[in-house]
Amino acid sequence: MATAFAPGKCILFGEHAVVYGHPAVAVAIDAGVEVKLDFSDEWGIKNSYYANEYMKYQEDKNPHIHYIINDVFNYDGPPLRINIESNLFSAAGLGSSAALSNAMGAALHKLTKPEGKIDRIELAKIGHSAEANAQSGRASPTDSATSSLGGCVVVSGKKNDDWEHVFDTSLMTPEGERKWSIHSIDLHEKISNSWLVLGFTGEAAPTGDMVSGVASRLKKNPALYDEMKAIENITKAGLKALELGNLEAVGIAMNSCHEKLKILGVSTPALDNMVSMTRQHSFGSKLTGAGGGGCMVALTSNPERVAQEIEICGGRPLISKFGSKGAYLREN
Ligand code: PMV
Repeated sequence: MATAFAPGKCILFGEHAVVYGHPAVAVAIDAGVEVKLDFSDEWGIKNSYYANEYMKYQEDKNPHIHYIINDVFNYDGPPLRINIESNLFSAAGLGSSAALSNAMGAALHKLTKPEGKIDRIELAKIGHSAEANAQSGRASPTDSATSSLGGCVVVSGKKNDDWEHVFDTSLMTPEGERKWSIHSIDLHEKISNSWLVLGFTGEAAPTGDMVSGVASRLKKNPALYDEMKAIENITKAGLKALELGNLEAVGIAMNSCHEKLKILGVSTPALDNMVSMTRQHSFGSKLTGAGGGGCMVALTSNPERVAQEIEICGGRPLISKFGSKGAYLREN
């Protein structure tokens, strides 16, 4: 038997701007996906998203899992019983498919190569390729890298010496080759001891639609490129504040980032409402990820009060420490 857990993620700064080469900052959160693998007589899968019992394993219904079993590991051993438990909201921008892919990669590695240690960079690349395979060849490495490495990760179009460089990666997409540099930053103790509260609106908007919406608004109004540059400046100020442990300054940067995302047209009334209601009890608050629904995130020292505010607004809260650890194996 082998069990692995991989965390979800939340984007703090730079969503959408990252698509145009600017940096984005993501942190691992406490919630995530656990995958437990057992040898068995027949293939079976249980996914806590959908069911409480084992079902027939169907390749087309489980594209991430199937890709890892067949294309990454070329697995030809006995049938597997695959048990998936998740405490992430799904289709909410919290990186649940990357967490699933990373947990599956780590668990299958343990099952097939019990002596081998997990290489986090290798795991991030496995997760990224599984996502790209399931998403017509288009995926950013943000979710898979943050889930594998844990802590706080900076993704940008090119290497930047201001942050610790971890690895470079690329992907052949239908639009040509894309390249990214993955960095990591050390969080100040004051930041690691603070809380993030995520609020899920319950509305889902596919990331691809939100990204193409921004692209068409940019085409109509090229002045919006200045907003992308402004987001980069906010991201850099936010990163400095994270390293220095200045919670107030991180919050100000989060608030400013939300205003820019509104100008890009990706917020919604539900997100704006939760963002403004949670600000009373937070250092800062913003939508996180693609927008159009999904989640907002607040930085706070009073997580219960913020969670209550999210519930009052009709959202579902999720409280997390800031920058949790990356994917790991669990003792069985
Ligand atoms: O909501 P998510 O986690 O899918 O965030 C997408 C972030 C974008 O910058 C909007 C797109 C991307 O590929 O980085």
